[in-house]
Amino acid sequence: MSLDINELHKYLETLAPKRDDVFKKLESKASEDNFPIVGPLVGQMLYMLAKISKAEKVFELGSGFGYSALWFLQGLPENGLITLSDFDQSNLDQAKVNLESIPENTGRFILKQGDALKLLEAEKQSQDIIFNDIDKEAYPKVIALAAQKLRRGGLLISDNTIWHGKVLDQNPDSTTQSVLEHNKLLAESQNFQTIWIPLRDGVSVSIKM
Ligand SMILES: C[S@@+](CC[C@H](N)C(=O)[O-])C[C@H]1O[C@@H](n2cnc3c(N)ncnc32)[C@H](O)[C@@H]1O
Repeated sequence: MSLDINELHKYLETLAPKRDDVFKKLESKASEDNFPIVGPLVGQMLYMLAKISKAEKVFELGSGFGYSALWFLQGLPENGLITLSDFDQSNLDQAKVNLESIPENTGRFILKQGDALKLLEAEKQSQDIIFNDIDKEAYPKVIALAAQKLRRGGLLISDNTIWHGKVLDQNPDSTTQSVLEHNKLLAESQNFQTIWIPLRDGVSVSIKM
């Protein structure tokens, strides 16, 4: 039997968890604007990883309008804090409105505008989770930096690690080559143990040793 991954994904989406209307509103907006978000299946995974690992501090590289951050916040304790970063100030302005539409989120997030890698580099506090969802060309640079900024036992989570299946291409384009390099660096890293989960566009979850 050959597996149709798109059909499988459609089926899994029928099992996606119940969620507040703000999540559904942002899913519709992403679909209308063709803006890439993690979607409810990966979102639920982010929530669960935050909860299981008892994370208190999360740093997001590439936050868009705050959809993935909304999921993380569900999994953080009352004193938890997530830092959102994005090149685009208008994305961050929308993220503020979206996050604050759930009153419990107020005061539990920080917005930082600029190059996410530079912003993470400047971060003084060690992090429990770093979530990587920036432009794929920069993916290889994330790994050494994340190793410095995560606590031992912390998680580096990268989205899009199968990159629409292009990681299997015989002649990968330059963006795909960056994703391949990211994956190889993680597989060979002394600093991380990694699993690749083929959910949606692929998510790698790495534990800092
Ligand atoms: C895939 S979207 C993020 C979606 C978000 N994580 C979610 O699932 O809701 C990527 C975002 O990262 C931003 N971005 C890409 N590369 C970046 C970089 N190097 N520094 C800062 N922001 C970046 C883009 O402006 C865009 O908003």
